[in-house]
Amino acid sequence: MHIHRTNCVGWTNWWVLLCLLSFVTAVKDHTFKTCDQAGFCHRNRHFASQVRQNANYIPQYHIEGSSVGLGTDPGKFSVIGTILKKLPNDATVELPFEISVLDNTVRVTVDENRKGINVPNVYSTKRYSETSKWAFLADLPYQKDVKNTIEKNRVSLEYGQDLSVQIDFYPVKITVLKKGEPVVVVNDQNLLNVEHWRSRSDDSENHLSPEESDYDMFEDSFHSSKEDSLPFGPEAVGLDFAFKGFTHLYGIPEHADSLDLKDTTGSLPYRLFNVDIFEYETDSRMSMYGTIPFLMAVKPDTTAALFWINSADTFIDIDKNSNIEDSSSHWISENGLLDFLIIVGDTPAQVNEKYGSITGNTQLPPMFSLGYHQCRWNYNDETDVLDINAKFDEHQIPYDTIWLDIEYADQKKYFTWQNEKFPDPKRMLSELDHTGRNLVFIVDPHIKTGYSVSKDLISKKITINDKTNSSYHGHCWPGESVWVDSMNPNSQSYWDSKFEWSPKNHFMGGESDNIHLWNDMNEPSVFNGPEDSSPRDNIHYGGWEHRSVHNVYGLTFHEATYNALAKRQIGNTNRERPFVLTRAYYAGSQRTAAMWTGDNMSKWEYLKISIPMVLTSGVSGMPFAGADVGGFFGNPSKELLTRWYQTGIWYPFFRAHAHIDSRRREPWVAGEPYTSIMRDAIKLRYSLLPVIYTSFYESSTIGTPVMRPIFYDHLDNLDSYSIDDQFYIGGSAVEGSGILVKPVTDEGATEVSIYIPNDEVHYDYTNGQLDEVKIYRAKAAHYITKAVSLNDIPMLLTGGSILALKNRYRRSTKLMKNDPYSLVIALDSQGKASGSLYIDDGESFLYSNDEYANVAFTSTSNLISGTSVLASAKYLDSLSGLEIEKITLLIEVSGHKAVIHKPQLKINTKWEIRISDDREIEHDEL
Ligand code: NOJ
Repeated sequence: MHIHRTNCVGWTNWWVLLCLLSFVTAVKDHTFKTCDQAGFCHRNRHFASQVRQNANYIPQYHIEGSSVGLGTDPGKFSVIGTILKKLPNDATVELPFEISVLDNTVRVTVDENRKGINVPNVYSTKRYSETSKWAFLADLPYQKDVKNTIEKNRVSLEYGQDLSVQIDFYPVKITVLKKGEPVVVVNDQNLLNVEHWRSRSDDSENHLSPEESDYDMFEDSFHSSKEDSLPFGPEAVGLDFAFKGFTHLYGIPEHADSLDLKDTTGSLPYRLFNVDIFEYETDSRMSMYGTIPFLMAVKPDTTAALFWINSADTFIDIDKNSNIEDSSSHWISENGLLDFLIIVGDTPAQVNEKYGSITGNTQLPPMFSLGYHQCRWNYNDETDVLDINAKFDEHQIPYDTIWLDIEYADQKKYFTWQNEKFPDPKRMLSELDHTGRNLVFIVDPHIKTGYSVSKDLISKKITINDKTNSSYHGHCWPGESVWVDSMNPNSQSYWDSKFEWSPKNHFMGGESDNIHLWNDMNEPSVFNGPEDSSPRDNIHYGGWEHRSVHNVYGLTFHEATYNALAKRQIGNTNRERPFVLTRAYYAGSQRTAAMWTGDNMSKWEYLKISIPMVLTSGVSGMPFAGADVGGFFGNPSKELLTRWYQTGIWYPFFRAHAHIDSRRREPWVAGEPYTSIMRDAIKLRYSLLPVIYTSFYESSTIGTPVMRPIFYDHLDNLDSYSIDDQFYIGGSAVEGSGILVKPVTDEGATEVSIYIPNDEVHYDYTNGQLDEVKIYRAKAAHYITKAVSLNDIPMLLTGGSILALKNRYRRSTKLMKNDPYSLVIALDSQGKASGSLYIDDGESFLYSNDEYANVAFTSTSNLISGTSVLASAKYLDSLSGLEIEKITLLIEVSGHKAVIHKPQLKINTKWEIRISDDREIEHDEL
């Protein structure tokens, strides 16, 4: 039993009672719908099973040949036309479609011509079509050079080097081919189903084919749905996609599940519906806080992905078993357009790059945000904050950021401080700044009623509204609240004003620049709402129902915060890159926020599942991800906490966090030997920051994950496709290599088994140490067993890698800025290695004015070189204080290690070191 929401103060009596009742529930499965309980999913699964069972099924849909032609938009190539849906009474529904190509990717949209629509006029009557507006970049790489052939029964398009698409009119099929071979077949099983507009008074019999069900078409009988008025009745979209020759599928976060997605036949489908699901279950297909409807199918020579551009409640069935060679997926959304992209490439890296060219890549984070974050609900007051800050130094543990949860605000009224506890935020921030530390504090989208901010939101008409178009009132942490409608363009300027850069802005510590933001509860979480969220018939800007925008709302909120922070120092050339953490997210969130996996528990299974969760996020274009280190609910044993730090240092976002009722557990609380082990782990993270930052640079330019699954670098090894308890950090997703890590996630473990994916030499790199040269390779067996003590983080360095590290202890990343580098070179079996290092100021946007350097290293056993590529001369000059202080060279053939101390090489020059056979070392700056 646990307590989640302790904050019921001030609520009416019945509400307090409800609140108390919620203390005794464990995971709240009954709060959330299953497919069977969601009318639209129930109906579509029923339809699918009827279609599959009926060998003589006659599809209702066809493309009307005479309607097909080329689109007239001069900015892009497109084929347009109409799909006709034939109803049992022989009437037809028109579904206009458009097929276009962007960055060698096919986009298909299918709308509905709605006739005679009669709904309360507060709503827009169209199907929601703006999900892509939020998910996509503003400038899209639409292609014009597409070769097309329009025939009587089909259209064929050729684009890219070896890609084509064939659109068959009846039955409707869209086949994406690579080198003439089908890769993805859309509507392979004829599960296309667009529930068209009909009114309650229609005779539904006339509108339903024998395969369709009328379950919950005009009402929602789920117990906690709180009278959804369903003004549009049934309006779901459903479609199936076959992935030819693929048996491994990845993506569609967020779920607490394996990396390689599971078959859902006969069980619960994966659900995408952003919810506040505290204490979620592991090994589950239930929906969680975020949604990325991006599914990637991988095989050795081809990767294909589907991006389902819909922000309504969505369920996905995966079928890997009906046909052992192919996989298929059936997508069902409650409403909106049918809108999707099919991306095909040779590798996952190519597909991630194309997806990034459309939805954007991850922000290049400020360096501090890659350091260690210390959070709990709550640090109580200024003294507490500064005391924790000082304790890190006392224990010589580096850290960059302390966090404040909701209790900092007066009665949880965001944009205020509890004055007695935090009398002078500016003073506190400036004290933190002395050692380069930052503060992140929380602002949620629910705003307590009865104070200036909620009054402003209401008077400016920038709240989410109820179905009568008045401000919606619900309950969250502060009690009765309204919600900012961040989908309303007018909300941005108001939000900007709250974070304004001004000496008068007490809330933001005046003109402090070491303050950043945490956006939580933005699913949105509504304690008295259906499924703990907003009623679906609530209204957003433009008259759109909440139902249509639910999954993308969270993105609009954190994006508004990011935009407001990015404007703070506008005009100042060194203005800070903002950092925003979000709980709810959608495809495109990577552009402006990091995410974490929400309210996990202090149990070993949550430590384990965090690895596939972060890996899945990474392959879905959202690499800046992490889990609460230590587990949010409960009190971890000292061993679990230690193992969690040893795992957490690899999360791209590394933050410890704890529930208000848990005991304090900062790294020094456990005492020895635990504190020293946690310190060593955190220091290892700090020494690897140049490597991690370089991976983020790569990710921000070409969309690759920062923490990479093993299969990503070993596409020819099918055995690696399901491995999700080890991963790569560093090296390059494109060239392979880096550090292979297998964190210990079992209680009492004395050994671990590590999978070595190929024959390449792997150097033992346990804890980042290279005391003796120990080599493993997969020649004899793929699995090796290694003995481990509590101290140990099993790590192997792949032959061919060169890492640049910063090994000196400093209190924060800011203080490491001018520290020298140490290179670790691990030669491969051919006696070669290469690596790169990205450098910029780590703080500002100046990198976008070419103020950055990319340094390339190469090595053989007798020649090591470094040279700056992609750097402006001016910026290179500014790096003249940065040196390489040590080089460690690992040579496989001889099992030999050479260490070159103080080579005194400057990072901004071109240099070479020649090592003669008798180990004489000469080095030159060229
Ligand atoms: C829920 C979040 O998931 C958690 O991290 C936070 O501490 C609480 N809200 C209180 O703000």
